[in-house]
Amino acid sequence: MAQGRRPLIAGNWKMNGLWDDGVERAETLMRLMQDAEAAQGPLPFDLLLCPPATLIGVVHFTLANTSITVGGQDCHTKASGAHTGDVSASMLKDLDCTHVIVGHSERRADHAESDAVVEAKAQAAVAAGLCAIVCVGETEAQRDAGRTAEIVARQVKGSIPTGANSQNLVVAYEPVWAIGTGKTPTAPEVQEVHALIRARLADLIGAAEAAKTRILYGGSVKPSNAKELLALPDVDGALVGGASLVAGDFWAIAAASTA
Ligand code: PGA
Repeated sequence: MAQGRRPLIAGNWKMNGLWDDGVERAETLMRLMQDAEAAQGPLPFDLLLCPPATLIGVVHFTLANTSITVGGQDCHTKASGAHTGDVSASMLKDLDCTHVIVGHSERRADHAESDAVVEAKAQAAVAAGLCAIVCVGETEAQRDAGRTAEIVARQVKGSIPTGANSQNLVVAYEPVWAIGTGKTPTAPEVQEVHALIRARLADLIGAAEAAKTRILYGGSVKPSNAKELLALPDVDGALVGGASLVAGDFWAIAAASTA
């Protein structure tokens, strides 16, 4: 983590949780945060929860008096229209979301989302006043073939919208093979890809903005590996899936960002 970039710890609940689970998890996190703030004062990191769309409203309501923000897990490319089952960026903004994840590998795989679609979604997010968390990452076969840098650079170039800057863009590096598997790249491997992402961002949005843009690592982040990963110079936070479903584990990951 470089000075000047405030860590962002984002929880991606994916398609998990009913009303009561969501409220309980948010309340537990809120209490952990309030206890820490009472002991240490304002916390030096940002916390974001991305619940399923059905729970965004109630989680936001539960966290109303805290600095923890809420975000969506996906949005449509259009602001409104005949798109049954979809949610637009302006609808998320209307629920007081601050961020939306786009291009998660599960969306890219399950819904055949190309870089062009991800870029259009990120563009819609920015137009609606949200910060887009654009996910990139190679598959295991691509890594084994030595193609990680090529794949990640291509996804960054193809998925970042025009007009992106350090305020409306976050990039998340999530190796597909590390998601939900308990496997992670080594710390030097993570740093190498994050540095590459920042260099490609500099080409797209200018060096000054790239230097201020937060790049998160995601893929099997847990309390036991968070400190090492979050201490890397170009890692500015984490996108946490499974461990974000346990409030204490998510909190421990966040606390590790300042350890
Ligand atoms: P994981 O998921 O932490 O369960 O590996 C991360 C993600 O997919 O965002």
